[in-house]
Order: sequence, then structure tokens, then C-alpha cells
Amino acid sequence: MCGIVGYVGKNDALPILMAGLTSLTYRGYDSAGVAVVNGTSMHVVKCAGKVGDLAARLDGTTITGTTGIGHTRWATHGEPSDVNAHPHTDSAGDFAVVHNGIFENSNELRERLRAQGCVIRSQTDTELFAHLVALNYDGSFEAAVKAALSQVTGAFALVVASRLHPGMLIAAKLDTPPLVVGIGADELFVASDISSLLRFTKRVVILEDGEMAVLTPKNVYVDLFRAEPVIGRRRPASERVLSVDWPADIAERGGYPHFMLKEIEEQPRAIRDTLRDRLLDDGRVLLEEFALPPSVIRRARRVLFLGCGTAFHAGLVGQYLFEPVLNVPVQVEVASEFRYRQPVVGPDDLVVAISQSGETADTVSAVRGVQERGATVVAITNVVGSTLSRIADHVLLTRAGPEIAVASTKAFTAQVVANHLLLMYLAQYRPHQHDKLLYQVGQGLRQLGDAVERVLARADAIKAFAERLAEHEDVYFIGRNLDEPIAREGSLKLKEISYIHSEAYAAGELKHGTLALLSPGTPVIAIATQSEIYEKMVSNVQEVLARKAWVTGLIADDDTELRGMLADSLVVPRVNDLLAPVPNVVALQLLAYHCGVARGCDIDQPRNLAKSVTVE
Ligand code: M6R
Repeated sequence: MCGIVGYVGKNDALPILMAGLTSLTYRGYDSAGVAVVNGTSMHVVKCAGKVGDLAARLDGTTITGTTGIGHTRWATHGEPSDVNAHPHTDSAGDFAVVHNGIFENSNELRERLRAQGCVIRSQTDTELFAHLVALNYDGSFEAAVKAALSQVTGAFALVVASRLHPGMLIAAKLDTPPLVVGIGADELFVASDISSLLRFTKRVVILEDGEMAVLTPKNVYVDLFRAEPVIGRRRPASERVLSVDWPADIAERGGYPHFMLKEIEEQPRAIRDTLRDRLLDDGRVLLEEFALPPSVIRRARRVLFLGCGTAFHAGLVGQYLFEPVLNVPVQVEVASEFRYRQPVVGPDDLVVAISQSGETADTVSAVRGVQERGATVVAITNVVGSTLSRIADHVLLTRAGPEIAVASTKAFTAQVVANHLLLMYLAQYRPHQHDKLLYQVGQGLRQLGDAVERVLARADAIKAFAERLAEHEDVYFIGRNLDEPIAREGSLKLKEISYIHSEAYAAGELKHGTLALLSPGTPVIAIATQSEIYEKMVSNVQEVLARKAWVTGLIADDDTELRGMLADSLVVPRVNDLLAPVPNVVALQLLAYHCGVARGCDIDQPRNLAKSVTVE
């Protein structure tokens, strides 16, 4: 969580920092701040609220200086407030720190620093680091930061500026929070993600765990602050420069009222890009970047999906896809729970870890745990160079492009399509009876972008329905088979974006308790697109109708039975059952979006959330 930006160069730092913070707002938005160094003075301005509140606070001030750091926060230690906002400084105001992550030994450090006479003003763990740097300073900025780094534990990324060393920044990272150095002409940038740097440079170096970077306008020098590299093979920074080919405006809203709507509408492209060059005309799947040995595939006794939130739901879709075709037990686990359960995992497990960001601390930690037990890990992720992509044994990249809205949309459909590709790839190396089905799935995948376009074309009907649904405070989603994880995802989207309470159930489970909550008029969205279990689903809908609930079907366009039975239906194109999660979820994303808009919610930055959860 939290967005970090830094600049050292020849231009005024403040506009660059503010532009970077605006792009990074999705990472946290409860407070924001900047520190700008000019000569031997350092100006710190920070406040509770969003980057816009910080801009208002800065309005009318003239802060100049060509070195600076900025931060947008998602609170962990201490409530959102002016005093807890970053940057934090030491008592003399010589050093300023912005920080993403947690120092796990902060309680002990706080006591120690107090005993040494430090006056600690905030409730944050970050401020402690500023005091540590000051206490270790004897003329060398670099040595002081390195010494401070040796005294903290946890997972973090941070950048330090100093008025004693204008023209220099020091950045460091350990474990999940990412940190990227951007290389310009006589200027360097540092930020929490690549897309916030795109308008300034497309040449980047991704810092690895345990690395500390010293940035001056013309040079970046990378050193280790932990003796043992945690992951990855180290090379000099100059050899690690990546050229990013994303257009500079890929992370811009481009005329849309919200990133979420833009990203929903980008799904046909994201799906086609994720399939490109991977699905061959003869139905085979070729994953060139993917060297998973056939021996590992053949010996796998179990497939284990790991993920959180929406990515967990993509894993549930994977379970329904993989188990019947590969004839292997498939388990899906919420990463945050799984790792503390002392799970039985071994070399015969094939683990599929799904994460849009590739930085979710719970997922990354769970992956490290299964790797220690000898399992092979395939990562499905959207971010090249992310922690997950670097620690996994094999990586299948979704090509959704940067996802900025906190609510995950295009990343989810790309994850589901990646699951289809992975299923077809694994099936090439395992005996099974499903050649015809997989051929049909391959054919359907080619048409899937078109099917999503047909859902998007019905957005007005979904909007009109959403405006009625938005007046309710409790909504239930039900579905069976592959419609069940989509019920969960539709429900998560609705609560995240519209703050409407909602629950999702396997339709057959409702009668085992939750049916008691339904009263006349209670909204129930019944997803009924799985042909094999359709009649069972109709019976479940009857049970709900008998309680006079307001049932709306999410049904395929050739469905006449439920359409005739229900007052309202959202209609999606009929596709192969195994592909139905994709058009279905797009309809539910639009539903959540328009409910949120109707209720005046903050669509791209829902309360209490952040895009990338890099703390456990
Ligand atoms: O980056 P990840 O896919 O690992 O993120 C996992 C979840 O935090 C994420 O999917 C979250 O549930 C979304 N905000 C839901 O829209």
C-alpha cells in the first residue's frame, strides 16, 4: 500500500512529484505529502485527504527545488491525519522519509528511540526511520541510511531525502512493496510503479529485495543492504535497464468519467492480447515464455490455486475448469489463511498463484511457503517484473495493461482467459477424454472478445436496472457450477463500488439457512448460464420466488424459460459453458459500476481500500 515518488535532477521537483502522486493515488488515498530540498533548506507540506487536498494546501505557496519526495498513504500505523501523513522527519528536520510497508519491530524501536531522547510526534512506524538515520549520521548520508536499514525488520520500500545532501536521494526495498527507478537525461525518478513514470521516461530499473539505490541527477548506484540476496540474481544497475513499450497515456483516463469504466470497456482488447500468439489455429496452445517441464505436469497429483479477493475468484473459476478435464484434485485457497495453516504441500503439487499486481503480500508469502515445501509455482500476473513474477518458477502474463481502478475488472477476465490457456496447455501433456470439448473452448476463446463487446453494447439496459437496484441495501447473488464464482465476484464488485451489502451463495446452499433473510422484494440476482445444471438452477430460483423475493436472471440470450418466469433479466450472449464466466462477469461489473454511480460513490477510490495490498 501507499504510493512513493521521488525526483532528483535539473527541473523543479514539485510539479513532477504532484504528477507522480496523482498517478499513484490508486495505491492509497487517505493522506498525502511532499518534501522538497532547495539548497540547505527542506520544505515539507502534508495533510490528511487526497492528493487534491494536498494540491489545495500547496496553492499559493512557492516551493522550488530540484530534489524531492512525495507520498500518498493507506494507513497502517496511526489514523489518517496531518501529523501521520508522510514525509516524516527527524527532530532537526535534516532527513525526510516516505515509506510503503511495515517495520515489524516498530514497538521496540519506539521505546529505544524514546530512551535515547527522541521526541516522536506521530503514531507511524515511518517517523522512527527518520530518527534512526539522524542518529547514525556522521557525514555520510549513504552510511547513515544503510545503518538505519540494518536496524529495521519487515517488508518495506522507502525513499529518504536530506537537506544536508541536496541533489541526492536514497531508496531501498525489502520484500513485497515494489520500487522502480526511472532514468532520464540528467535526472532520475523513483516510484512505486512503472506507469506513474511513463510521462517522464520509459527506461527503468526495478529494484530487487535487499537493494539500496543512491540517486544523483546523472547516476544511480545500487548496493545491497542485506548480506544475502533474498531473490533474483544481481547485476549492476546499468545492465538492468528495461525499456517499457507502453504508450505514455496508457494509464490515463482518456475522456472516461472513471478508470473503472475505461477498464471494463478495454476487456475485449485485454482478452485478445492475452490470447495473441498463444492459441494456434490447430487448437494447440503455445506458451513460448513458459518452460514448465512436461514431467512436472505429468506427475502433478494436485493443482492448488492461491490468490486474494478477485484473484481468488479467478482461482475458483480455475477449479471448475481444471478438475473435470484434467481429472486431478484441484484446491483453491485464500492466500492469507493458507500460509498459516501449516498446509500439506510437496513436490507433486502444481501451484497456480494468481495476482494482478504480483505484489500482494499474502499471495507472495504463501508462494514462498509452498516453494520451501518443494512445490512448482506458476504465476498468473499482470505486472512484468513484479515480485511474484520473479519468485515464481514459471510465469503466464496476462496482458490486460495497467489496471488503475481499485476494483479489478479487466485483470479478472484476463486471469480467467489465462486459466483457459493453462488448462489447454496442461491437457496437452496429460491423458484425458476431452479433446472435443477443449477444441470447442479454443474456438470459443477466439470469439470471446466479440461476446464481451455484445455485453458492452447492452450497457444502457444494465444501467437502467442498476438505477433501480441502487435503492436497496441488501442484494444476494446465486449461481451454480461456473456461475458460482461469478456470483461471488459480482457480489464483491457491488459492495466494493456501491457500498451495498451483498452476499453470494451457491444456489443450492441458500435453503440451508440464508433463505431466512429473504422477504418480499429482496433483490436476488440469479446467474443461470450453465446448461448442465440449468434445471436445478431453475428449481432454486423457484424457491426464492416462492418467498416473493425480487429475482433478476443473468441469463443467456437463447433462454426462454427463466426469461418468461422473471420480471427482470440481464441478457448475455450464449457461449460455451466453460467460457460463460467472462461475459457474465462483465455484465455484473457494469451493474456494480452503475449502482455506484447512482449512489454517488467514489468509483475509482472506494473508501478504506487500496489497489495493491503489500502488507499482510
Ligand atoms: O493484485 P492482486 O490481484 O493480488 O490483488 C488481490 C486483491 O486485493 C484484489 O483482487 C481486490 O480484491 C480487488 N480490489 C477487488 O476488486
